[in-house]
Amino acid sequence: MIGHLNHIAIVVPDLDAAITLYRTAMGASVSEPLPMPEHGVTVAFVSLPNTKIELMEPLGNDSPVAGYLARNPAGGIHHICLEVPDMDQATEAVTAAGIRTLGEPRTGAHEKPVVFLHPKDCVGTLIEFEEI
Ligand code: CO
Repeated sequence: MIGHLNHIAIVVPDLDAAITLYRTAMGASVSEPLPMPEHGVTVAFVSLPNTKIELMEPLGNDSPVAGYLARNPAGGIHHICLEVPDMDQATEAVTAAGIRTLGEPRTGAHEKPVVFLHPKDCVGTLIEFEEI
């Protein structure tokens, strides 16, 4: 059912510093920062030959990643995103397997349907499904 690794998301305390790390020290292609107030984050994407790294900095007062950063002040890996071909089918399959979703599928940061799976049901990893 699951397909490619779409991205790994890393929460960072300083997006400009993170961009400099990947762009200058590691020689990667990194997008310009993109504020997404409706998602409570500013993001930049590191393009890799086989996947992407999504750098996320909290934006606003009720950012969904603010708590993560409070627990991990240096930043850290927040979630992995796996591609699924059919969101309804994927959601049904994991639900039937006893895996909880965090809410209903919604339109994510890339204008595609996404849903998050409960990390306690996924060996401690927050997993995002994105319909591709
Ligand atoms: Co993501």
